[in-house]
Amino acid sequence: MSERKRILTGIRPTGALHLGHYAGALENWLDLQDSYDCNFLIADYQVSDYADDIKHVRESVWDVALDWLAVGLNPETSNFVIESLVPEHTELTTWLSWFLPLGLLQRNPTLKTEMDGFGKKSVPLAFFTYPVMQVANILMPRAHLVPVGEDQLPHIEMTREIARRFNRQFGDIFPEPDGLVGRVPRLVGIDGQAKMSKSLNNAIYLSDDEDTVTEKVRQMYTDPTRIRATDPGHVEGNPVFMYHDAFNQDIEEITDLKERYLVGKVGDVEVKQKLAKALNTLLEPIRIKRAHFEQNHELVREALEIGTLRAQKQAQDTMELVRDALGLDYLKKN
Ligand code: TRP
Repeated sequence: MSERKRILTGIRPTGALHLGHYAGALENWLDLQDSYDCNFLIADYQVSDYADDIKHVRESVWDVALDWLAVGLNPETSNFVIESLVPEHTELTTWLSWFLPLGLLQRNPTLKTEMDGFGKKSVPLAFFTYPVMQVANILMPRAHLVPVGEDQLPHIEMTREIARRFNRQFGDIFPEPDGLVGRVPRLVGIDGQAKMSKSLNNAIYLSDDEDTVTEKVRQMYTDPTRIRATDPGHVEGNPVFMYHDAFNQDIEEITDLKERYLVGKVGDVEVKQKLAKALNTLLEPIRIKRAHFEQNHELVREALEIGTLRAQKQAQDTMELVRDALGLDYLKKN
């Protein structure tokens, strides 16, 4: 293994990626991919719609890989990994489960919120225990850093706890990884809801075309207290300005728009047109790359294949350490 520190991070294959993923995590991945050995995992063991919609999961694996390639992640130097093709994840999950008190899992706030989201539908057991598998994902390459969205921090705290408990008993096998949250820890949805998400149907996708982005921005939630363009408006808490701050590179333009907005000298139409333009400027190169890889599907397949093969090797090495530490050599002759 090289001297460089290691990253593991991942995403569930539930569909194409959006601006929230970009500003909350992907941007960091891009910055870090040249200085760390990176593992980018597509966590197909951890999607709750398995039972209902396996076809969608399969398609989403490709959507995620395409988006990764489109934003510029490099599959030659970083591993793109399909989780279920490294079945050691399940073995490590089982061993690690013995080091996790049930109460810690029950108190995990992210898991709690997600389970509430099931409403009246029953929660599959595998959903309740997915954070343990996420811990196994992170510990498998013995990662030092986990760049993720803000909602994932409780899972990383659990990872550190389990690593500590395991190491205390069996020696220093796992580094205690740090979490790293992106520039925009949580991006509001275009409808003003607290979080951009596919399930809330309030997302702008990296793969949306120019007209779609413009239309979504046109419909964006803005200052509800403002009726006419001549009314003084609110910038603070206004999703349109939050997006300007997050994605518009032209700081002077933002300052000018805000000044005029506060005194009722600019209409929402202009503020939104400028936002749509800024977003399309950001997304255009990503779309072009995406189209290239869509037409060369074999490149996507190869990216997933080499990364997964490298992760399989890495998993075998780690599991050897773990099995040694646990003393599983029952049948060794002495
Ligand atoms: N649970 C993460 C999410 O919903 C995805 C994920 C799976 C992950 N395994 C991981 C993230 C390991 C970081 C590290 O986004």
